[in-house]
Amino acid sequence: MATQAPRTAATMPQDRLGRPLRDLRLSVIEACNFRCGYCMPEGREVEDEALGAQRRLTFEQMETLVRGFVRTGVRKLRLTGGEPLLRRHLPDLVARLAAIEGLEDVAMTTNGTLLRGQAAALRQAGLGRITVSLDALDPELFHRLSGGRGEVAQVLDGIAAAEEAGFGPLKINCVVQRGVNEDQVLPLLAHFRGSGHVVRFIEYMDVGTCNGWRRDDAVASAELRDRIDARWPLRALAPAYRGEVAERYAFADGTGEVGFVSSISQPFCGDCHRARVSADGRLFTCLFAADGTSLMEALEQGEQAVSERVAALWSRRADRYSELRGERARVGGRHVEMYLIGG
Ligand code: GTP
Ligand code: 5AD
Ligand code: SF4
Ligand code: SF4
Repeated sequence: MATQAPRTAATMPQDRLGRPLRDLRLSVIEACNFRCGYCMPEGREVEDEALGAQRRLTFEQMETLVRGFVRTGVRKLRLTGGEPLLRRHLPDLVARLAAIEGLEDVAMTTNGTLLRGQAAALRQAGLGRITVSLDALDPELFHRLSGGRGEVAQVLDGIAAAEEAGFGPLKINCVVQRGVNEDQVLPLLAHFRGSGHVVRFIEYMDVGTCNGWRRDDAVASAELRDRIDARWPLRALAPAYRGEVAERYAFADGTGEVGFVSSISQPFCGDCHRARVSADGRLFTCLFAADGTSLMEALEQGEQAVSERVAALWSRRADRYSELRGERARVGGRHVEMYLIGG
């Protein structure tokens, strides 16, 4: 098998809106130890969607897949779930992926509950960055939002474990729902300001089919920014890189920064270079896609076949759901469940 990644127009595609493929978000498992109401509410699991271990890609298949994507232009990889730390022997996968030439960034999104036991091994294996989802600091509210399964103290301890293992500043993602956890915004910042970790507030989105989303449930970033600015004055920062999803602001008093992801009020599809693959090897070209395309046949033929298949699919891509949402009076339609592709 060739090891050199060929850079040809055929395998470095642009989609129909001129966007190259730069980021891959790979789900390693669809299971989760939480039952967040907006993702996998208790009792609303779609049986058909539960993949089961036998349909999940092996680590070897995931490595071949990622190598194929790197040949197609991908430079950033994020491991997601479900909850990725439920996948057994995850550090072994990280070690395989971190060794791939051409991949510049390997990150992971987790709910943080299992970090205490695994942070050191993940660091050792070459994981570069960790993002922790944390929607509330209040223990009772946190417990409720996790579907009665999570303890906030355990997540905070997981964050401490990541620090101890030598991870740099973490990103802390908080999805803000109107009337549910908006009162957690200032406490979260009070807690993390000065720690180096960066809290990012995410506008609640209409992903999946479980959450019965209404436009009014989202809190616009501009509103939150004004509330925060009134307490701790903010100063806008330039994007860290082209296509950065979060808008960044620094605290004027030098205690760090805060980010906002505004997919509802300010869609960023124009710079969307992200592909998503579910744990059973289906490619989704948008977070809001109804269906994915299986890459299994190409995967059996190796990384070059994956690259060609992905290039062909990417060049047909025209997704810009979040922009279209803004133009429509009604939203809806079928969307892939969040726990299958991990946000
Ligand atoms: P960095 O590489 O650390 O900058 O990561 P990121 O901000 O690109 O990724 P992250 O997964 O932390 O994104 C934060 C949140 O933004 C996700 O949980 C999603 O809710 C949302 N998000 C990320 N990518 C997209 C996207 O392509 N479309 C939409 N609509 N929302 C996205
Ligand atoms: N809207 C915005 N973000 C969401 N996430 C999950 N569901 C939604 C939603 N409906 C985020 C989680 C986590 C990541 C996996 O995706 O908060 O940070
Ligand atoms: Fe699990 Fe994350 Fe979905 Fe919550 S949002 S149920 S933590 S995968
Ligand atoms: Fe990309 Fe789809 Fe999100 Fe737009 S809505 S930024 S196309 S994933």
